[in-house]
Amino acid sequence: MTVRRVRRVLVLHGPNLNLLGEREPAAYGTTTLAGLNALIRREARRLGLTVRVFQDNGEGRLIDLLHRHRRWADAVLINPGAYTHYSYALRDALAAVGKPAVEVHLSDIRRREAWRRVSVIKPVCAGQVVGKGTASYLEGLRLLAALR
Ligand code: DQA
Repeated sequence: MTVRRVRRVLVLHGPNLNLLGEREPAAYGTTTLAGLNALIRREARRLGLTVRVFQDNGEGRLIDLLHRHRRWADAVLINPGAYTHYSYALRDALAAVGKPAVEVHLSDIRRREAWRRVSVIKPVCAGQVVGKGTASYLEGLRLLAALR
């Protein structure tokens, strides 16, 4: 597949990630969403990427964000939260916009409850990074920046 060099990345945080820092810190760490976004912006700058960053709890609103920014974005970095495990609608939206996407998770979904081991999003993504805390997002950005 030939992919236009990635410069503009749409970063989407899914449900409950607004509570990062206070939400189950043993699973998701103590960095807040604002802190995580600062790390994402710093890494993006280092890589020469421009980012638009959103968090939303709603499945439909995440899909709307993908639609709305599809002409701007070259690529998508997404942590779909629990939608990862069952949202065919989000999966279809990623396929529909047809941008290279990387799925990221703070925790290692492969080593948690059985229902978390399934990602219906992964098959429509160019990559998946899990279990590295906030560094999952930074690695995801680097994967997108390296695409051509
Ligand atoms: C998560 C993992 C999901 O299973 C969970 O529902 C989340 C966070 C993660 O980043 O580890 O909300 O996506």
